[in-house]
Amino acid sequence: MEQRMPFKLMKQRQSFRFVLLCLALTIGMQLKAQMTDLAFANAKALYSSMLEKAKNPFTPPRTTKPDGSLFLVPDIYDWTSGFFAGDLWYTYEATKDATIKKEAIKFTEALDSLKWFTGHHDLGFMLYCSYGNAYRLTKDEKYKAVLIQGAKSLASRFNPITGTIKSWNKRTSWDGKTVWNYPVIIDNMMNLELLFFASKVTGDTMYRHIAITHALTTMKNHIRANNSTYHVVNYDTQTGKVLNQETCQGYANNSTWARGQAWGIYGYTMTYKETGDKRFLETAQRLADFYLTNPRLPKDKVPYWDFNANQSGYTPLFKYDASKYTTIPRDAAAAAIVASALLDLSKFSGKKGIGYAKAAVAMLQSLASDKYSAEQGSNNHFILKHCTGSLPHGSEIDVPLVYADYYYLEALLRYQQLKHNSSPLINKSTSAINK
Ligand code: GLY
Repeated sequence: MEQRMPFKLMKQRQSFRFVLLCLALTIGMQLKAQMTDLAFANAKALYSSMLEKAKNPFTPPRTTKPDGSLFLVPDIYDWTSGFFAGDLWYTYEATKDATIKKEAIKFTEALDSLKWFTGHHDLGFMLYCSYGNAYRLTKDEKYKAVLIQGAKSLASRFNPITGTIKSWNKRTSWDGKTVWNYPVIIDNMMNLELLFFASKVTGDTMYRHIAITHALTTMKNHIRANNSTYHVVNYDTQTGKVLNQETCQGYANNSTWARGQAWGIYGYTMTYKETGDKRFLETAQRLADFYLTNPRLPKDKVPYWDFNANQSGYTPLFKYDASKYTTIPRDAAAAAIVASALLDLSKFSGKKGIGYAKAAVAMLQSLASDKYSAEQGSNNHFILKHCTGSLPHGSEIDVPLVYADYYYLEALLRYQQLKHNSSPLINKSTSAINK
């Protein structure tokens, strides 16, 4: 017998469909139909050329050196080592090219010994972007085993007194005096996805507990009253007390480093997706709203490397010569991360989601333009141009970055998925209009 759907559930479904329809119309109206196909064809061609230069999977590509040549990381322990494999997996997912898949496997499997690595928190990036995609796309159990052991290694950096995973080992702050014994950075939110995965596939809730505790502590100590974020929070490991709220890669301790804010938006969106806990959704929205309504966000929605660079009221503690930066460098990596996050956030945000989808589409349009996307034979065969790794360290300024490509490709796939899921609704509404 046919069951009648409860009224509340029916209403929820109707409202979800309405949002999907609006998202589809927003997206359908704004993006040229072939934009994603062209971007993936471009990615395949660029990476095919890149693979002729980057043959050793133990030293994957990261960026461009100051002399203009390709920079390969010296070993797999660099925090970016998993992104190139991830770039190849996403390109394979979109194009189904067998050679790209073979290379994706090669660049992934070279990272096997990372599963034992406990030297910093970036294991989530390194393993989930490589092995995570490998497992998602192949379902090969040997990849799952690496991810579980990797999650165990990451979890070993958790301290229940601070309620956080330790990001970096001991460091000195830019003031030259303050020592961070237990620094936690906003970027760490990204590494939690590996822990959620481990709980899902093992049934052991320990990983999930750590991830949720870390996200709640970060929510309390990394986010300012105006919904911007600190980059670094240093904790007292005896009491759990916050000792310092500073920056390492941003302009000033009270400024908003664009990529830090991007990691926060993405990290809280992902944590909501994994937990269904509304506190994380609200946090993701607050961080996104700060970013999107910020008067310092340029028209093309590709942010300056720091929202407050060159502004009065913000004092860099690193050696900074403003006359060198009358044009403030952008960070296309932050734009790619935010575009990908917003496409997910749009699905969970009711009517507000339409604004997030629109903003994400605008970001993708900018990134796909000649200004940010490389031509064949240029940019050391990376896709995106105009990223900033760490300006305070004088490193990777206005260059391609392997992780910018990763989140750009991910955003394009998410966009395609959204469009694909919504297409019957688009067709329905179009035929209704035509009648
Ligand atoms: N630590 C990651 C980043 O530079 O964004």
